[in-house]
Amino acid sequence: MKVLLVDGTILGRKTGAILEQVQTYIKEFAPEMELTILKLADYDHQFVDGRPLGEYNDSMQEIVRRFEEADGYIIASPIFQGSIPGVLKNTFDMLHPRTMRYKPVSIVANGGTYQHHLVIENQLKPILDYFRCLVTPNYVYTHSSHFDDTNTITNDDVHNRLRELARVFVQYAEMSKHLSKETLDNH
Ligand SMILES: Cc1cc2nc3c(=O)[nH]c(=O)nc-3n(C[C@H](O)[C@H](O)[C@H](O)COP(=O)(O)O)c2cc1C
Repeated sequence: MKVLLVDGTILGRKTGAILEQVQTYIKEFAPEMELTILKLADYDHQFVDGRPLGEYNDSMQEIVRRFEEADGYIIASPIFQGSIPGVLKNTFDMLHPRTMRYKPVSIVANGGTYQHHLVIENQLKPILDYFRCLVTPNYVYTHSSHFDDTNTITNDDVHNRLRELARVFVQYAEMSKHLSKETLDNH
């Protein structure tokens, strides 16, 4: 099973740090899973403007291909202006609506304000619901104070929640294997 761990920003380091920690915990529960980190910062982004996929640059086409090939996702996002970064939304806009259908997804996010964990609930989850993902019931929101100066997560509770998220993600991944990706409707 291929899992894509998406670092959804081109700015900052903490989002990537949480993702690497999740990767370590998923490996503990499911060593057989093929885990790959996709950093949006490594790509040359173009705005989605309705042109055919083949007319976008290689970077954009590769992002779409890697999303399509994956069987599950960890989406990591910082909070920007009370929302997700534009580059992450633009990436979602590139995808065919069936790309992530019935595939397991877990969310991790971080921000400078405690209250903005609701961005996950109110903004990121509805997008993944639109894609009909199997979003795990637990997500992890970290605050800048949970990291030390080298961007290592120092808070034990955060570590435990990331471990639990990894455990549930692996169970959702197992569950998704038995779900047909074909649908009876035309949507
Ligand atoms: C443009 C911008 C907007 C931001 N807006 C918010 C915000 O609305 N709420 C919040 O909690 N944090 C906000 N932050 C803080 C980031 O979420 C924080 O920098 C990031 O989670 C972590 O840090 P890193 O930059 O050290 O990787 C913002 C940061 C930037 C650069």
